[in-house]
Amino acid sequence: MSKLLSPKNGGFFITLAIESSCDETSAAVLKNGREVLSNIISSQIDVHKKFGGVVPEVASRKHVENIDMVIQEALDEAHVTLGDVDHIGVTYGPGLVGALLVGLSTAKAMAYATNTPLVGVNHIEGHICANYIEHRELKPPFLCLVVSGGHTHLVYVKDYGDYDILGRTRDDAVGEAFDKVARAMGLGYPGGPIIDDISKNGNEKAMTFPRIYLEKDQFDFSFSGLKSAVLNYLNSQKQKDIPIKVEDVAASFQAAVIEVLVNKTIKAAKLKAVDTIVVAGGVAANSQLREVLKEEGEKEGFCIKYPSTKLCTDNAAMIGCAAYYNYLNGLISDLYLNAIPNLKLGESR
Ligand code: KG4
Ligand code: ZN
Repeated sequence: MSKLLSPKNGGFFITLAIESSCDETSAAVLKNGREVLSNIISSQIDVHKKFGGVVPEVASRKHVENIDMVIQEALDEAHVTLGDVDHIGVTYGPGLVGALLVGLSTAKAMAYATNTPLVGVNHIEGHICANYIEHRELKPPFLCLVVSGGHTHLVYVKDYGDYDILGRTRDDAVGEAFDKVARAMGLGYPGGPIIDDISKNGNEKAMTFPRIYLEKDQFDFSFSGLKSAVLNYLNSQKQKDIPIKVEDVAASFQAAVIEVLVNKTIKAAKLKAVDTIVVAGGVAANSQLREVLKEEGEKEGFCIKYPSTKLCTDNAAMIGCAAYYNYLNGLISDLYLNAIPNLKLGESR
């Protein structure tokens, strides 16, 4: 029996959300968009570790195996039944097409069977919305640096669901660069948390890797040159038979990434005259990025906010929050909604 008063009965909104865009199968239940009643995440990291990265076919198969259990657990933990759910939010892009289709087909089947509105969510928008869950007082406008395994964006959030993209990466995403550099040093997958960790014992001034700012006064990023510089350094040391100190390489690489991210973000925040800068996506969990942006941003008078680590990496609660605002904005999807692997932020559904 449900313990909650559904808005169907004049109470509050209950969102059921599903996320399966990459290697986490996740389902969450939220109350009024910002209160998380459950957020179940079944991670496939251990499965993909031995391949050094996510294998799309394996990811899809694992999602199929886990999704029903994960959804049931999310409903049970939140003490709601499907009958209480006001809308079903689901990630439909960007991401791996096979992985996306598992969550999307499940959400569509549930929406059809229970006659519940379906709300398609852009995964990047979900990352931004993780901050609304973490910081109940947060309201647009603000500037958001989105840094994940697949995306690097500087976004001016004008209103709920209203985004101006000021810049994006022209090649590798930040998380991708972390993962590739870690792999080149044989550190394992995913590389971001490992580099973050070992950098604490390294000297960030040991090597000077390039800081790529591109053209003056614009906000795009490029990380492939930096990644190549690190790989070249590793190869040259290997050829000369000189042992490398992985902690120093990790710290020097990380410092180069963070310097560019922080400087561009603060510059964009000044341009848009916002008070608040938020960070989102898996790389927002990076301890050095959090520290340096806070220090530099606060010096310039900005309020700096991040989600907790659990809300930085992929999870369905952030998708539920985005679905709630889409729903309030009247963005309800029909059952023809399809997975769009390269969906852009702000693209209409
Ligand atoms: O947002 P996310 O879970 O998935 C995507 O939407 O891509 O981000 C995953 C990425 C991976 O590249 C991972 O290495 C990186 O986030 N990451 C980190 C840290 N934790 C996760 N990168 C740097 N430092 C971390 N602490
Ligand atoms: Zn993500």
